Amino acid sequence: MLTKTYVIMLLTLLFGISVQAAEPEPAPTLESLQEEVERLRSIMPGQAFAMTQVAYNFNNLWFAAQAENWPLAQFYLNETKVRLRWAMRITPVRKISTGDIELTAIATALETGPLATVEQAITAHDNAGFVASYTAMMHGCQGCHEAIEKPFLQLQIPTMPAEAMIRFTP
Ligand code: HEC
Repeated sequence: MLTKTYVIMLLTLLFGISVQAAEPEPAPTLESLQEEVERLRSIMPGQAFAMTQVAYNFNNLWFAAQAENWPLAQFYLNETKVRLRWAMRITPVRKISTGDIELTAIATALETGPLATVEQAITAHDNAGFVASYTAMMHGCQGCHEAIEKPFLQLQIPTMPAEAMIRFTP
């Protein structure tokens, strides 16, 4: 078995690579942790960014179902769910003109209501059921945008897929 020292010697001889033992990391201080939290906060995606990811997956879901590619539709449904939960974790409660609004409660109601119906339609390979439940979910999404006083974030049935590299036909 090659020992570590032997490997280092070999590397040095063969390639002139000098391998130095890593300096032990200094123990974190309260200050260094605060700085790190600040840094992470400054690079963390905001809720609107997470929402673009919700829209990306919900958009592709439409085209997967139109092509009757049910496994792909199931994939995009799962991703929509996961991204919506992520978006909610970023800012679970938002300030509006009349006080605070609990976004998580709205999202959970949509997930267990219309989005669950979309999933049933996918499982049943039911085109008409899909169109109806997808549209209902979209109105639910829109409802939240109105609740957060951004009614101009109006949603429509997508006109082209968000992803051009995925082949939607099964
Ligand atoms: C529980 C509330 C809620 C639900 C449900 C919701 N949204 Fe949003 N949406 C938001 C918030 C909050 C923003 C970001 C507003 C901001 O930060 O200015 C947003 C923004 C957006 C944006 C604009 C993002 C951008 O920056 O360009 C899109 C697109 C969007 N949502 C699509 C959807 C879709 C599609 C669904 C349903 C699958 C959905 N939303 C469901 C609250 C919600």
